[in-house]
Amino acid sequence: MPTVQLRSSLPAVDGVVALIAKGGELPAGVPWATLGVTGEPGQSAVLPSGEKQVTAWVVTAAEPTAEQQRRAVAQGLRALAKSTKVGIDPSGLPNPDLAAIAEAAVLTTYSYLTYKSAESQKSATTVSTITILSADARKAAAKTAVADAVVVAEATCLARDWVNTPPADLRPPAFAEAIKDTAAKGVRVTIWDEKRLAKENCGGILGVGAGSEAPPRLVKLSYNPAGAKTHLALVGKGITFDSGGLSLKPGSSMMTMKCDMGGAAAIVAAINAIANLGLKIRVTGFACIAENLPSGTATRPGDVLKMRSGATVEVHNTDAEGRLVLADGLALAVEAKPDHIIDAATLTGAAMVALGTRTSAVLGNNEELQEQVLAAAKVAGESMWRLPITEEITKAVTSSPIADLRQHNPKPYGGTMYAAAFLQAFVADNSWAHLDIAGPAFNDAGAFDYTPVGGTGAGVRTLVQLARDLA
Ligand code: BES
Ligand code: ZN
Ligand code: ZN
Repeated sequence: MPTVQLRSSLPAVDGVVALIAKGGELPAGVPWATLGVTGEPGQSAVLPSGEKQVTAWVVTAAEPTAEQQRRAVAQGLRALAKSTKVGIDPSGLPNPDLAAIAEAAVLTTYSYLTYKSAESQKSATTVSTITILSADARKAAAKTAVADAVVVAEATCLARDWVNTPPADLRPPAFAEAIKDTAAKGVRVTIWDEKRLAKENCGGILGVGAGSEAPPRLVKLSYNPAGAKTHLALVGKGITFDSGGLSLKPGSSMMTMKCDMGGAAAIVAAINAIANLGLKIRVTGFACIAENLPSGTATRPGDVLKMRSGATVEVHNTDAEGRLVLADGLALAVEAKPDHIIDAATLTGAAMVALGTRTSAVLGNNEELQEQVLAAAKVAGESMWRLPITEEITKAVTSSPIADLRQHNPKPYGGTMYAAAFLQAFVADNSWAHLDIAGPAFNDAGAFDYTPVGGTGAGVRTLVQLARDLA
């Protein structure tokens, strides 16, 4: 992770990102024409300036929003591909947002080199220091804003690392231990192994994990600071690899399925950030962790699982495993009697059919909470959009000839809503919102803005912002 510092003058750096508002002046009288840009937002040019130092000029909007500033920073940093000590000069903006700039800088310079050879790790360009230039550099408010932004960005990078880890190296027991090892100060972690899960009647998590030699885990996280008035429960889908189970996926759809613990990674990383920021809100997290594999011990289509809530579920498609593990996590969340429950899950391919790969779906039983999630997402710079849970879909999942609930869509349409309707059966009348992050959790195309290829840390920044708003 690079060091981020705020200074009133730039130290020796080998690259500078200069942010310029549309219509603004370039320092030193450099005419726009020499840069080959017209001054329209979204343009950039790199100029050599001095021996080693290069400057990437990035034109953004006349009064850029926080998100436009994040993207401009990303554009500039990507243009400075070879610099390791970078400066960011936002003095060409009327309204520099130091937090957004710091956050984007950390998020853009992320790289995951763990599995590269020592030589390629050495030859890779990684940014070691980021210096943000500001006349407010000595003001406490500015320093805190930057430090807090770095906390959130680093939490996002932790979630990215976990998603990027090859699935053989992050099976459920290893993931649970990693969560324990990285817990922030003030966060208590309790791990339930397969024996405890059986004792606690967590038939959903056990049923999904039954096909793997690596047994499932439930990880509970508690952060309960003095003075907290609101209690938020966070539940995350933690399928360390989703082969589909006996309802096996085609090979091509399996390639990205190490990302299927992205929801659990997001809630855990968010709780660490919330604790590191010292937010005055009580948070209880449940990471529902299993590996979905086919084998002689795997759960079959037609099997009936007895869930933590006491309800029975007829399994139809073992590839719709996320809702089964989440059902137990949601039931445990209800038992903790929080004010609100939010779950995050790479739950349905249908969410990508509906909203594409960069937008998460938001569903739930409380309009106000869903709107609060959307508002937090907007501030955080994550794209989210609501979908409904309709009556007829709710009826379809609550009717099975032999059990209390039917697990899977009877129809091929509206899969995101079926999954959410199933989850809703486990939250009783608690205030609840569900984030289907299937699209944004993993980027298997090219890097864009401040999002790298691979794990993205989707959901982390929105959850932290929501905790801020609710605290
Ligand atoms: N983990 C997948 C959903 C997913 C797909 C996440 C693509 C990220 C990218 C989930 O467990 C799944 O397989 N869902 C099925 C549900 C169906 C069998 C009802 C799906 O979406 O096809
Ligand atoms: Zn699946
Ligand atoms: Zn899955």
